[in-house]
Amino acid sequence: MTRTLLVLGGGIVGLSCAYEALQQGWRVTVAERGALGGQASGAAAGMLAPYYENGEAPDAFFGLCMDSFDRYPSWIAEVEADSGLRTGFVRSGSLHVVRHDADRLSLAGRMAWQSANGASMEWLDEAGLARAEPALPPGFAGALYCADEAHVQAPLLVKALIRACRRRGAQLLPLAGELTDAESDASGGVSVQFEEYGRISADAVCCCLGAWSGRLAAWLGLRIPVHPIRGQICAYDPAPIALRHIVFGPQAYWVGKPDGSLICGASEDEAGFDRTVTDAGIGRLVRAGGRLLPALSGVAPARSWAGLRPATLDGRPLIGPVPGHRAVFMAAGHYRNGILLSPATAAAFGEWLAAGGRPESGASRHAFRPGRFGGVGARERAEAER
Ligand code: GLY
Repeated sequence: MTRTLLVLGGGIVGLSCAYEALQQGWRVTVAERGALGGQASGAAAGMLAPYYENGEAPDAFFGLCMDSFDRYPSWIAEVEADSGLRTGFVRSGSLHVVRHDADRLSLAGRMAWQSANGASMEWLDEAGLARAEPALPPGFAGALYCADEAHVQAPLLVKALIRACRRRGAQLLPLAGELTDAESDASGGVSVQFEEYGRISADAVCCCLGAWSGRLAAWLGLRIPVHPIRGQICAYDPAPIALRHIVFGPQAYWVGKPDGSLICGASEDEAGFDRTVTDAGIGRLVRAGGRLLPALSGVAPARSWAGLRPATLDGRPLIGPVPGHRAVFMAAGHYRNGILLSPATAAAFGEWLAAGGRPESGASRHAFRPGRFGGVGARERAEAER
């Protein structure tokens, strides 16, 4: 008999988990309030930059980023083949530029441990940088060049995943109202009560609500300390400067897209669930651009927007089975790396599905277990339900 999966949340993580389950032959429903991929996923610059995102040490999070990064080319190829759509995947490499020799020190430490862990990196002096990225102005002390880092066009990837999921028979369920109740039932499945659809039962549920994950705390009996960090971002279109690589500067990054636009990101501000774009937020990016890349000076971005990154208390995602609920998996809290981490997250979910819901083992998985922040007591539960 075909097993049924309900995915709560249709961002890139939810869609990737849905796609994985569909490939395993599950019947899948994805429930999303608003547009699929309409939150952090659609707002992302689409950088696949596991080295830039890991400054400190080769820890479990670095391992997860690398695992996902290694899966990307074949995963993208499958999504593109299944959907018939392109995703703008480009292995551009990246340049982390510095103005002063002193800034080189912190990057040298990172380069040493990352090169020892497989990164293809080298230090470029001023002349080397000019050869690598001729559009940059003179005056940089050099750059850390990483040949591996890449990017995708996040909105195109979301579109392709939606199409691939649809073609494999996924039901996509738009929500306007609330998820009012959910319970793990005695037969081993789960039933979720939706305001507009009534009760939907499934053999398994995957919780992928991004910044909104905390809403599930009362049902799951779990502390889910995920909070939104707004990222404001803008695009120059057409790009006033043609960059071959992702360029990381001290206050912003720039990514030239195959469609001819140049994306510049991103602020990190705490504004609750407010997705408003502010003059101050975009102004900072524009000024950073003007300082680093004179070609951007005086040019107004063609578009600006914002997304809410789902940040956890320890900066690590929540990926794994939910304790006390045999048929519930959580994949949330991916903070700055939802696009990068989608293939590895979907693979972890797929392993759990294939293992019949048995908890995973392994030290790296341990670091991301959703139960690590403890349970919700009766009082907190009542407060969350209010
Ligand atoms: N992944 C880059 C950012 O969140 O701004």
